[in-house]
Amino acid sequence: MTELFASLDTPCVLVDLDRVEVNLKRAQAHADKEGYALRPHTKTHKLPRFARRAEELGATGITVQKLGEAEIMADSGLKDIFLPYNIVGPLKLARLKALNTRVSLSVTADSPDTVAGYAATFTPDAPLTVLIECDTGAGRCGVQGPAQVLALARQIIGAPGLRFGGLMTYPPLHNFSKSCAWLRDAVDLLGDAGIAVQRVSSGNSPDMWDANEAPVTERRPGTYIYFDRFQVQEKVASFDDCALTVLATVVSRPTSTRIVIDAGSKTLSSDLMGMSGHGLVVGTDYLVKALSEEHGVIEMPEASDWPHVGDRIRILPNHACVVSNLFDEIVLVSGDKVLERVVVASRGRVD
Ligand SMILES: Cc1ncc(COP(=O)(O)O)c(C=O)c1O
Repeated sequence: MTELFASLDTPCVLVDLDRVEVNLKRAQAHADKEGYALRPHTKTHKLPRFARRAEELGATGITVQKLGEAEIMADSGLKDIFLPYNIVGPLKLARLKALNTRVSLSVTADSPDTVAGYAATFTPDAPLTVLIECDTGAGRCGVQGPAQVLALARQIIGAPGLRFGGLMTYPPLHNFSKSCAWLRDAVDLLGDAGIAVQRVSSGNSPDMWDANEAPVTERRPGTYIYFDRFQVQEKVASFDDCALTVLATVVSRPTSTRIVIDAGSKTLSSDLMGMSGHGLVVGTDYLVKALSEEHGVIEMPEASDWPHVGDRIRILPNHACVVSNLFDEIVLVSGDKVLERVVVASRGRVD
């Protein structure tokens, strides 16, 4: 194990390009079979090259989570960007206005205040497309019922600088059908009021293999490009499907059962995703039990000689997206072969 990726310093993030390719193609095939538009969420990888690759394979556009990420993707030539976020305040609205002249952009709103901000910023010569975010059970943003959807739709339609773009939800885990029923009620109410809904955007990775259901026309899984320990736990993917791992070096063996690696919370983040442990040692069932910023502590159930100080091990993180955000670069690999380093272009763009 000592020679594993010997040319790379640790900790570093390895992304297996072959697995990425398989994951992208499998998701697109599902979208094609089920007849929905795939608009992958790029928050997982933050790499324009993977955004472009997904589009080459058939994605209709991309999703980003922050305005800063959208700007980076636009700078890199991506042309169809969905930003499912309430953009609030004059500084961000000015940036949104500039971005809207460069790409085909859509955003969300879930309150009259947010719509009022858009309405005061955009003009009919370059209108902004606004979807209404619906809380169909996940308990984050979103209007709470169809009547509010209708009121916001009317506000958007009444603003000369805005276009009503449809509905969006980030669905609750394992409740895709229930979430669709919520959305159907809203679409029906809008229909009764003479408002047509062309686009209904939903989606995550844990439910990505579910059959599609009306009225959803578009789905936005993100983590599926890499998968991670959480997705394996959710049975969306196998360990072999996971493309992103962290390469770490054993820096201490204080006891016969304890391994300490050079990957702590600055590398793996502290995101437990409701699981025990902060990651899994690839090829074993050893968990990273505790983290401090620069140390990861692995407790083995039984005394073992392996690994030694200086050995390298790979960790499958709980949550791939947060790891991408912690590194300036990832290393593309194919099996045990290093291919190239890639700058994580929109990493850290939390604004
Ligand atoms: C609005 C929105 N859409 C889609 C996704 C992608 O979900 P997943 O990470 O499960 O692929 C996320 C993830 O946080 C999200 O916030």
